[in-house]
Formats: sequence, structure tokens, C-alpha cells
Amino acid sequence: MITVALAKGRLAEESCDLLLKCGIPAEIIKSDTRKLVLTSPDGNFSFFLVKPSDVPTYVEYGIADLGIVGKDTLLESGADLYEMLDLGYEGCKLCVAGFPKRKGSVTNTHLRVATKYVNIARKLYAERGEDVEIIPLHGSIELTPVTGLSDVIFDIVQTGSTLRANGLVVLEEVYDISARLVVNKVSLKTKADVILPFIEAIRKQL
Ligand code: PRP
Repeated sequence: MITVALAKGRLAEESCDLLLKCGIPAEIIKSDTRKLVLTSPDGNFSFFLVKPSDVPTYVEYGIADLGIVGKDTLLESGADLYEMLDLGYEGCKLCVAGFPKRKGSVTNTHLRVATKYVNIARKLYAERGEDVEIIPLHGSIELTPVTGLSDVIFDIVQTGSTLRANGLVVLEEVYDISARLVVNKVSLKTKADVILPFIEAIRKQL
């Protein structure tokens, strides 16, 4: 049996469509149930529906052989696993954004950067030798320059509508983000006979 961790929500639905195209009996992913372990009718696949940020953990620990997760989540987690394929969907950019001309001057010594992606942001600014203050938050990041909590934000931009609605613009595109297929390092060796054909079937569909 192959175990696959999927991020609950839209990513799982798109992943379901991809798996079906590959001939993998994954319909069960879309079933209207509160069950979190979904086994395919042929018994060959078990899908775990988890929070996006938990997908890398399930794969790193080998509870799931494979996972499908956004590159943003992957970068932020720093999990020890192999990224095998760029699946292309759920595309967006991880950007620095703010007011077109920052209102007034920065009152603090440090530029204040609000983000859900604390680890990526710390690494980014450290590599640049910029001493910034990272403000960790869990959502509604675009509110922070508007209210004065931050000078800029480091966040996902998909359609750009949240930025526009709050008078903000992209100041810098930093990473291209999309869904990625990841695999547990040990599973790739011990279950190569089933995992490699699975990966190849998906690759052919892309
Ligand atoms: C994400 C992201 C942005 C928004 C970008 O937030 O953090 O706020 O989507 O999408 P857009 O460019 O299409 O407007 P999400 O919807 O996950 O909500 P959150 O603010 O609660 O994290």
C-alpha cells in the first residue's frame, strides 16, 4: 500500500483530479466525509487529509510515503524529504508587498516585515544581510501595513485582489510557488517498486 498525505481543501481536490487522470482510483478523496484516512477501493492507496503545514511532517516521518503540498509550505517547513515533481497547479508568488510609496518614513530602526512565513523571511533577509524585524502572524497579513503594524508584508499573491483591495502593491516577487510532489527518503528506497511507477504516471500527465 502507498500512503499519501494531502492538504485538505482545494489542493486535495486538484490533486484528486490529477490522480484520477493517472488511473489511480482516488475518487474517495472527494467523498463528503469527516474521515481523515481514505482508502481506495482496491486497497492499494491510503490518503491522509491533513492541514497543509502538516503534510511535510507526515512525509518526513514516513507516516505518509508521499505528499502533495505547496512549495511555500515546503520551504517554510524545512522538512527532510525529497521534492520529486512540480505539479504546476495552485500557482502563485511569494512576494514582498506594501504601499506603492511607503507612507512616511520607517519610524523604527528596523524594517518591520509581517508574515506567515517566518522561517523563509528570516532566511531571505539574513542572506541579504538586512537586519529586519519579522512580525509573525497567522492570516490577514495585508491588514498590517494598513494599520501600521508593519512596513511591508511577505506573503502569497495569487490574483492580487487582496493587495488591491487594501491599496497595496507587489514590491518584489521572490519565489514562484506551486504544488509539489514530495516523497519520504526511506520509502523511496524500500518501496521503489511501487513508488517510482506512481511518480512516473504523474510525471507523464503533467
Ligand atoms: C492568502 C494570502 C493572501 C491571499 C492572496 O490568504 O495570505 O492574503 O490569499 O490571494 P489573492 O492574491 O488571490 O488575493 P488566505 O486566503 O489563505 O487567508 P488568510 O489571510 O487568512 O491567510
